[in-house]
Amino acid sequence: MKDLIIYGRASQKVIKTIPINTDDLTTNLMELLLDNGIPVASSCNGEGVCLKCILTANGEKILSCQIDIEDLFKEHDSVTVIFSYL
Ligand code: FES
Repeated sequence: MKDLIIYGRASQKVIKTIPINTDDLTTNLMELLLDNGIPVASSCNGEGVCLKCILTANGEKILSCQIDIEDLFKEHDSVTVIFSYL
């Protein structure tokens, strides 16, 4: 079982834990977050140009609209995404 952990730096707590299903593997991170009610800033609708959707996942800055869940979990069973504004 793989879990995506949403951590809010502003609230200093885990906001949500999202279990990852096989159907989610081809979804990009931004879509998965939005589908689960987590707000992600964007003005290019996932085209990869506005850079507003940058998040920190497993300690690295990533462009959430450009990374698939499968790639994000390639070497991890659990991934923590940090939101500064949650
Ligand atoms: S949504 Fe614009 S770069 Fe990701």
